[in-house]
Amino acid sequence: EKGAFPHFMLKEIYEQPETLANAMRGRLDSDNATAHFGGLNLGAQQLRQIDRVVMTACGTSYHAALVGEYLFEEFARVPVEVEYASELRYRNPPMDRNTVVLALTQSGETADTLAALRESKRMGHTTLAICNAVGSSIARETDGGVYLHAGPEIGVASTKAFTSQVAVLAMLALYLGRTRHLSSTQGQRIIAELQALPDVIRKTLECHDQVKRVAAKYADAKNVLYLGRQYLYPVALEGALKLKEISYIHAEGYPAAEMKHGPIALVDESTPSVFLVPRGNVFDKVMSNMQEIKARGGPVIAIASPGDHEVAAVADDVIEIPDVPEYLQPIVTAIPLQLLAYEIALLCGCDVDKPRNLAKSVTVE
Ligand code: M6R
Repeated sequence: EKGAFPHFMLKEIYEQPETLANAMRGRLDSDNATAHFGGLNLGAQQLRQIDRVVMTACGTSYHAALVGEYLFEEFARVPVEVEYASELRYRNPPMDRNTVVLALTQSGETADTLAALRESKRMGHTTLAICNAVGSSIARETDGGVYLHAGPEIGVASTKAFTSQVAVLAMLALYLGRTRHLSSTQGQRIIAELQALPDVIRKTLECHDQVKRVAAKYADAKNVLYLGRQYLYPVALEGALKLKEISYIHAEGYPAAEMKHGPIALVDESTPSVFLVPRGNVFDKVMSNMQEIKARGGPVIAIASPGDHEVAAVADDVIEIPDVPEYLQPIVTAIPLQLLAYEIALLCGCDVDKPRNLAKSVTVE
């Protein structure tokens, strides 16, 4: 039930401190500086032999997988390829027997994802899933998997499933990393950072008022660009998808630096850009991408670290989020983008929980 919330989507956005805690409960092992998963069904030897992971999914789950690519690379140094399930299904990529196919799906019923998994199984690959719906088709058909424990997600726009998927991917990357080069000190640091996350998200939700002000200013936009780099590039894609699906405003996500290779031609006074620009390794680079947009008269909304004067000097509007290590920024920055899509959709008079033309789970290929 929605309880005090007017929509399931808003309720699910606000549940994220708890759903993230649920995703981590009982899975973090500080003594051994690693993570544990009950249902992976992979022996230690099999685990060490994995030399490639192919992640497959659709929609928001695909965006989570893209974050997973960065996580697995950083923590485990395992090569990852991410492919839309509907494309993987009809491709025949060369994969050896140490390649694991990992599906990500909230519902566990998405036809494209199920078909891609079945095809991978047919070819003899080990298949795993990160899934929310317990006992769903995909959960039943894979060799092993990890549940999100996020509770039912009713809003058609996926919110809490995304952040939990990223948290589970971070734990899996930690687990894989610890069978390889990741030191116990590094492992312990990651565990402490993950454990702090539910409180960080509680704090992040305080940006809601800032988001409302921004939404009121830009709700009549016809096009919106979402820009980020590295870990935040997939979040830019996800922010754009959220806006498209519930407010019917055209939006595109891009790696911020790719703008100058063509899409910057779209920029004018009526096309706002949402920049993901918290402090981190690529901060200066993203700042200069932001200046390029400003120089062409495009309004800039920045999702930034608290009290960042450098950002405030360039952006028209700033939404502040707490500082976290870069690999957790996808989870934290997703929150204001979910809220922004929600608030704009409300102002546009759209049915946020049941957007037109969409179903919660897409059971046709
Ligand atoms: O249940 P799944 O995670 O497999 O669903 C995949 C997509 O259909 C889903 O994420 C869709 O893109 C959402 N409506 C996005 O908010």
